[in-house]
Amino acid sequence: MLAISTLPAIVDHTAALVVLAGPDGALSDGARSADAATRGAVSAAAKAARFEGEAGGIVELLSPAGLACHRLLLVGTGAADTLDALVAEKIGGAIAARLLTSGEVHVNVDVAGTLTGPLAAHLAHGAALRAWRFDQYRTRLKDKQKPTLASLALIGADAEAAAAHVRLAAIADGVARTRALVSEPSNILYPESFVERARDLAALGVELTIMDDAEMKRLGMGALLGVAQGSVRPARILAMRWNGTGREDVKPVVFVGKGVTFDTGGISIKPAAGMEDMKWDMGGAGAVAGAMHALAARKAKAHVVGVVGLVENMPDGNAQRPGDVVTTMNGQTVEVINTDAEGRLVLCDAMWWAQETFDPEIVVDLATLTGAIIISLGHEHAGMFCNDDGLAEQLRSAGAAVGEKLWRMPIGDAYDRLIDSDIADIKNVGPREGGSISAAQFLARFLKPGVKWAHLDIAGTVWASKPGPVWEKGATGFGVRLLDRFVADNFEG
Ligand code: BES
Ligand code: MN
Ligand code: ZN
Repeated sequence: MLAISTLPAIVDHTAALVVLAGPDGALSDGARSADAATRGAVSAAAKAARFEGEAGGIVELLSPAGLACHRLLLVGTGAADTLDALVAEKIGGAIAARLLTSGEVHVNVDVAGTLTGPLAAHLAHGAALRAWRFDQYRTRLKDKQKPTLASLALIGADAEAAAAHVRLAAIADGVARTRALVSEPSNILYPESFVERARDLAALGVELTIMDDAEMKRLGMGALLGVAQGSVRPARILAMRWNGTGREDVKPVVFVGKGVTFDTGGISIKPAAGMEDMKWDMGGAGAVAGAMHALAARKAKAHVVGVVGLVENMPDGNAQRPGDVVTTMNGQTVEVINTDAEGRLVLCDAMWWAQETFDPEIVVDLATLTGAIIISLGHEHAGMFCNDDGLAEQLRSAGAAVGEKLWRMPIGDAYDRLIDSDIADIKNVGPREGGSISAAQFLARFLKPGVKWAHLDIAGTVWASKPGPVWEKGATGFGVRLLDRFVADNFEG
């Protein structure tokens, strides 16, 4: 993780230097003094590059005569009235992307007079998020391919930026936890090892509850265990509880995550092409673990429980068959038409157990549940299904604020009827049309009366095939910042 300092005592003048400019190349104070020191080389380079001060636009000068630094970046901020936290993060991301493997180890970003208050911290946050990479299994990287950038210092940031940074650093750590979980291959990350990797959350004050398959069997979680029975890896449920309210009488908000550590489809096996992507079918569980990390690390004044249902969906001789009927923890029977619609089978028992155990008013589940949501929304928005307009708006606005966008999808009785079974209470798939909606309807049948619930189908947003403003290609960490913000805006008042 990129080290950030907001009020550096000593400035390393040989480090890379970033100065800022607004629209039409309007230079900040720092940029103007760099321009003067270089006898106009900065403004001349900006002109030559047709730089217009667009947010994240970069003009790079190597060994600028008159300055001690080896590299100067003139970076655009865009217009002042559009410069918000998200734009600042994008600017930071652009700086990190440019310098990450440049040979520079340290960068000073002169924000004086341009990025006031928390904005400077958001720039650093964007840089930290964008600089994260998963190089665990690369043993032959050439020196030039290795990341060099290790630290970023904000020059001219105020005390407000330093305070914002403390909070954002906790969030960045949560995002990094999620991305690492999502990136790990399934021979390394499986239900038991997921649990092992969550144990260090206890040091942050998170209370962990772990359930093995014997305990789940005793509780009657036939749907979750039916998915797991084709794998040699035993299933687990992990609950992570953070109570920062100082009171025990506050009902928690519960987050539930789909943690299918690999999804072959089971006997309804998936095609070979692209099946490797199904290592990230635990993206919901990963987001919940990362969010719990962020909340505990910044000592959120809220009571939050994260529950993850962890299984591997494999097709061995003991695997469940299409047509099998399983009984869920709340007694409803499910006809398993398609063993590849396993996420809902895991979630229904995990969600029921979470409601029985923690008595929440609000349940938000996150799951890479359907390919159909990618057909509907692509990779820009996650799908949101919600039984309460107020909750839907709270989640939508939290997502918009952090750049993890949600788009609300419909639910209702007509869709619910699509999953009535001829032999059991419910079948686990409806028709192909509206596949994400019938998946949501399945989950809705496992809510206790009065519980406000949202289901976030994050299949299109967990993994990126190209780099984004604040992520490298690969695991995005989607959900962590959204859940953190949702808690901050609504439960810490
Ligand atoms: N994990 C998949 C959904 C998925 C697909 C996530 C592609 C990310 C990328 C889920 O378990 C699944 O297989 N869903 C099926 C449901 C179908 C059998 C009703 C699907 O979407 O095809
Ligand atoms: Mn599946
Ligand atoms: Zn799946």
